Amino acid sequence: MAILTVKNLSKRYGENVVLSGINLEIETGCTQVIMGPSGCGKTTLIRCLNLLELPDAGEICFQGENLLKDQRSAQRLRNKIGFVFQSFALYRHLSVLDNLTLALRKLQGKSRAQANAMAREELAYFDMSAHEQKFPAQLSGGQKQRVALARSLVMKPEIIILDEPTSALDPLMSQEVAQLINRLSHRKVTTVCVTHDIAFAGQISQNVIFMSGGVIQAQGAVEYLAKCGLPQVEKFFGNTSHG
Ligand SMILES: Nc1ncnc2c1ncn2[C@@H]1O[C@H](COP(=O)(O)OP(=O)(O)O)[C@@H](O)[C@H]1O
Ligand SMILES: [Mg+2]
Repeated sequence: MAILTVKNLSKRYGENVVLSGINLEIETGCTQVIMGPSGCGKTTLIRCLNLLELPDAGEICFQGENLLKDQRSAQRLRNKIGFVFQSFALYRHLSVLDNLTLALRKLQGKSRAQANAMAREELAYFDMSAHEQKFPAQLSGGQKQRVALARSLVMKPEIIILDEPTSALDPLMSQEVAQLINRLSHRKVTTVCVTHDIAFAGQISQNVIFMSGGVIQAQGAVEYLAKCGLPQVEKFFGNTSHG
């Protein structure tokens, strides 16, 4: 069953039409990768999915309910979607532990003791227990990414959306993030991941969409997309026989 269904989603900034009729079904528990040239609207699309950006037209249905129709159900459902920003967006003035507990305490009303217990469990999962009292500036890029993931997952979302999780990391770290994402499938979290890294995409999913010109041009595994018969898509995925 689809956890998220996007129908005819459109979004423009002034004259700039960024999304012009996106249709997409994301299956519960899967990892959905979103690729496409720089500026094609990947970030705009995932920001719309979480209503960080309001689309001009279309539907976003989360478990069958249209997020754009009813503001109250939108807020409720939005709490089930976690978002990890490209730049991690950690709170610089808070320790690792407090980065994880802030929303638990302020948004979910957990006591400090409850929040700390949940945060410590999540930090252990991400092998970050030893760093709980550090501040973001004291962490490596890969460690910041782990904290950003942990902070999102501690809220127990049903979907986690990641924007270019490897863009700030070296290749070895990227492999590590791929392993972390693959491990998430055991937790029954649906993952939506934007990336420009073809190797990384292939490591985490067989289900990649290629966006350009405001629509989804093709969908499938990386190996399929590289030979799908559409010159623009094949070129992006490294098939240079079209010149
Ligand atoms: N807040 C905004 N205001 C105006 N234009 C924007 C805004 N956000 C994105 N854009 C424009 O929308 C287009 C798509 O941007 P984006 O979704 O960030 O692309 P991608 O993530 O694929 O690189 C770009 O032309 C960008 O300049
Ligand atoms: Mg982007």
